[in-house]
Amino acid sequence: MISYDNHLQRRLSALKGQYGDTAAYEELMAAGDPVVYEVYEMLRPEAAGELRSGLSVVHPGRVGEEFYMTKGHFHSIIDTAEVYYGVQGRGVLLMEDSGGEWAAEEVEPSRAVYVPPGWAHRSINIGNSEDLVTFFVYRADAGHDYGTIERQGFRKIVLREGQGYRVADNPHHAQH
Ligand code: F6R
Ligand code: ZN
Repeated sequence: MISYDNHLQRRLSALKGQYGDTAAYEELMAAGDPVVYEVYEMLRPEAAGELRSGLSVVHPGRVGEEFYMTKGHFHSIIDTAEVYYGVQGRGVLLMEDSGGEWAAEEVEPSRAVYVPPGWAHRSINIGNSEDLVTFFVYRADAGHDYGTIERQGFRKIVLREGQGYRVADNPHHAQH
């Protein structure tokens, strides 16, 4: 574990509207709104030259056939890049820019994934029973724009297939 200043938990309710299977979503909500992921941050001043880093822990689980995942966001300073490094478990970093490009990069221990400037990103735990733990670092003054993804979702979704996963079009995305 790293030393951290801030710990936050996000429950399923924070992902309202992001999962296609609304019956499965409501069932989990009725059973107690589970914690889907947690973030441990090393805070630094929001100033030029500073870096914010920490650990993201996405628990294992699914809502219907879609896996537990983070809300996902663009950065408020949109041309901010970010590096993720796999620490534990298996996941997919789903990314898209605002012009129609997308990518789904696998993340596993000792593998780094680069989120280019201008790309929204979401971490998805594709494992059955293990936490997905990643280390992240980005400029400390970047800020977060959650609203765009809350409104339109990502273009792609990641679904369970057998013991693995597949990437499909998001039928609820505004442009599909
Ligand atoms: C920061 C970053 C990560 C995420 C974390 C939780 O820019 O990308 O620290 O914040 O994985 O995901 P969100 O912020 O989408 O709830
Ligand atoms: Zn980010």
